[in-house]
Amino acid sequence: MSIQEAHNWLNSADAIAVLTGAGMSADSGIPTFRDAGGLWKQFRPEDLATPAAFARHPELVWEWYHWRRELIAHAKPHAGHLALVELQRRAPGFTLITQNVDGLHQASGSGSVLEVHGSIWKLRCTQCFRSWSDRTVPAQGIPRCLCGGLARPGVVWFGESLPPAVWRDAENAAEDCDVLLVVGTSGSVYPAAGLVAMAKSAGARTIEVNTEGTVLSPLMDCSLQGSSGEILPLLLR
Ligand code: APR
Repeated sequence: MSIQEAHNWLNSADAIAVLTGAGMSADSGIPTFRDAGGLWKQFRPEDLATPAAFARHPELVWEWYHWRRELIAHAKPHAGHLALVELQRRAPGFTLITQNVDGLHQASGSGSVLEVHGSIWKLRCTQCFRSWSDRTVPAQGIPRCLCGGLARPGVVWFGESLPPAVWRDAENAAEDCDVLLVVGTSGSVYPAAGLVAMAKSAGARTIEVNTEGTVLSPLMDCSLQGSSGEILPLLLR
């Protein structure tokens, strides 16, 4: 399968769905989770990205999220992000689903991004459940809600369910699309990774962009090996 054929599929599609993972942000300098230098190599997910971890050590979890926010605050969208904005402009139907919480798709101009794992720029009160945006960087300590409750990052932790309305829209997009473009995800985490099989069984053509093969590769009609910043612009030509 060539880039040209993948380009033709995208060009003739009525409805395109895109699913991105940490490999989309890697070209903006943000470490992925499971690559060699990935985030989960330095920390164990169970120690930081679970409700139990937060209940046990809120200050440690916040220290990690403050560090990630600081890192992300300096990251800029790359040519691959801009290629997806252009693809959205061209396509009659387009839905961008991301597992990333960094907001880089919105920063590059993508509209109505489905953030199935939430946003690192959102906080939620653990008492009154109010949620708000917060972009203070650098920040210290544990943010608090106006009600005095402890605030937590507005992201989805292991063992938590995805935001229902966002997830429903993501499932609908996977079922309705003609082409699903999957960029920079290892396919390790469900239910997000399940969108690929969902799209495929609904008759969509599936294209993968990744620097290496993944568990999802056997489901792909076309696997393009390379970085998101390099391959995505080529898909527009
Ligand atoms: N371009 C494209 N793909 C890349 C690049 C790049 N420059 N660099 C790395 N990759 C690929 C890797 O080969 C890998 O398949 O990106 C993928 C990153 O995989 P993960 O680190 O597992 O990230 P992701 O798939 O997004 O993780 C899913 O796991 O920890 C949870 O909630 C977290 O949303 C995250 C979810």
